[in-house]
Amino acid sequence: MQAEIRKQWEGAAPGWAQWEAAIATWMEPATEIMLSMASVTTGARVLDLACGAGSQTLRAAQLVGAQGHVVASDIAETMLHHVRENARAAGLANVTTLAGAAEDLEVAPESFDAVICRLGLMLFIAPAQALAAVRRALRPGGKVAVVVFTTPAANRFMAEPMQILLRHAGRTPPAPGQPGIFALGMSGVLERLLLDSGFVTIEQRTVAVPLRLPSAGRALAMMQDAFGAYRAVVSDCPEAVRMAAWAEVAETLKSFEAATGFIAPAEVLVVAGVKRA
Ligand SMILES: C[S@@+](CC[C@H](N)C(=O)[O-])C[C@H]1O[C@@H](n2cnc3c(N)ncnc32)[C@H](O)[C@@H]1O
Repeated sequence: MQAEIRKQWEGAAPGWAQWEAAIATWMEPATEIMLSMASVTTGARVLDLACGAGSQTLRAAQLVGAQGHVVASDIAETMLHHVRENARAAGLANVTTLAGAAEDLEVAPESFDAVICRLGLMLFIAPAQALAAVRRALRPGGKVAVVVFTTPAANRFMAEPMQILLRHAGRTPPAPGQPGIFALGMSGVLERLLLDSGFVTIEQRTVAVPLRLPSAGRALAMMQDAFGAYRAVVSDCPEAVRMAAWAEVAETLKSFEAATGFIAPAEVLVVAGVKRA
């Protein structure tokens, strides 16, 4: 199963990297809150789980400065290649990368002050296993902060296309408890998971992150290029089914287009916890 996830994200990595700047702008308010809730400050040793192409890695690296360090980890090696390239281009020498599934994370115990994970945890097969690994990696008193999408109702531009793709592919939505874009977004779910994983002093913030793009066509391109979980739904379907599915998604996305371009409401939850000292 991890091999399947790796393949899915290796396939999406070039597209994700291409959309990196737009995704960074889209997620900026949530990213700043996540970094603050994890206490990512000068000199901190930070682990960025499921880092993707690393826009939040680079932001963390700027905040910790030359006295600190950020380890960017992801299941897809191609994502890490982009992180290294982006860090080099930004002149940041305090970023290293680590390939592997978060569930199998192997780092020295208690070697990090903070762990961040933006838009990754809800996609993991075993998030509790990943949080157990995070807990081992943190020093006592260290913090973890996680960003996940909230609910389908608050993220219609993502929920409706997913339903369309699933219908065309003849597949059912993930059952409760299974990985998926909204798996951890219902009130209390992530808080419970962090408490059960041994974290205390749970803090949470709901953050509006409307997506603004020049057109619905660009939103469709972003989804097709970068969103690994969406691409995966129809990846094994015959060409005609894929085309029909994406054509219907294109129509749905048009409903978010106004005279000023594409603007879709979206919402994330930022949840943080502390490893008991
Ligand atoms: C939606 S992207 C988010 C990337 C980045 N954190 C961001 O916000 O731009 C999800 C990322 O999770 C990674 N991923 C998925 N399952 C993983 C796992 N089990 N362990 C580590 N990384 C994983 C994917 O390769 C992908 O880079």
